[in-house]
Amino acid sequence: MEDSIRLIDTHAHVALNQFAADREAVIDRAQAAGVVRQIEIGYDLPSSAAAIALAEHYPHIFAVVGLQPNHIPEAPDDWLDQVRRLAAHPKVVAIGEIGLDYHWMKAPPELQERAFREQLALARSLDLPVVIHSREAQDDTLRILSAAARAQPGIMHSFSGDWLYAQACLEIGFLLSFSGPVTFGKATAMHEVARLAPAEMILTETDSPYLTPHPYRGRRNEPAYVRFVAERLAELRGLPLAEVAAQVWANAERVFPRMRDPVAG
Ligand code: NI
Repeated sequence: MEDSIRLIDTHAHVALNQFAADREAVIDRAQAAGVVRQIEIGYDLPSSAAAIALAEHYPHIFAVVGLQPNHIPEAPDDWLDQVRRLAAHPKVVAIGEIGLDYHWMKAPPELQERAFREQLALARSLDLPVVIHSREAQDDTLRILSAAARAQPGIMHSFSGDWLYAQACLEIGFLLSFSGPVTFGKATAMHEVARLAPAEMILTETDSPYLTPHPYRGRRNEPAYVRFVAERLAELRGLPLAEVAAQVWANAERVFPRMRDPVAG
C-alpha cells in the first residue's frame, strides 16, 4: 500500500539559503511524497535557532541543535550555554550535529575533541541522543564515543564507511543513517553495510541540500528524495519498501523519544 508508507528524513538543512525561494513548496513536496517527519539539523547557533523556528512553524518538523566542528572558529565564547538554552525547547529532539571533521580541519583536533566531548556530556545531562558528524576521523570518533558512555544513544549521520567501521559503531549502540550515496552504483562498501546492518539500527536521511541521491545526483537535494534512499535500502535488503519504511519509522521513534511528545504536535 503505497499510500500508507511513512517516510522520515532524519537529517535536513532546509533552513539554508538554498531553499529561500521555495522552502514551503519543498516541504509540501516532501509531505506529498510521504515524508511525515522531518528533522532539521543545526550546525552552529544561528542554524540551530533557525531549526527551532522551522519546527515551531511546522508540526511535523523537529529540531536538532549543536555546534558542528567546522563552525567552531566563529562560535562565541558562551556557545555551549547557548546550545543548552536552545535544547530546552520542546521540539528539540537531539544534540547535533557534533563530532570531528579532519577533512576541512577548520579547528585543531584538540579543540574539535573538546567541543565534541562537551556536547556529548550536555546531551547526556539532558537525556537527549546525539547526531554525529564524522569526516576522515573514524578512529578518534570511535575512541571518544566509546569513552563517553556506552549507553548514550546516537546516530552516525550520513554513514560512510565499510562494514568493519559499521560494526564498531553498532557495537557502541549507534544507529547508521543512510543518505544519497547509498544509491550510487559504485558505493559497494556502503551497499554491503546497508545489506548487513541489523534492521533495528538503520535510519534514512537526505542531508539536503547536499548528497543528492540517484537519479537527481548533481542537483539540489530535498527531503522528498529520502524516498530514493529508502527504496535503495529496501532493494539491497531484499525487502518491500513498506517493511523497511516501517522499521526505520520504529527506529526513529525509539532513538528520538521526544519526537513522539504530544506537546510537540
Ligand atoms: Ni548535515
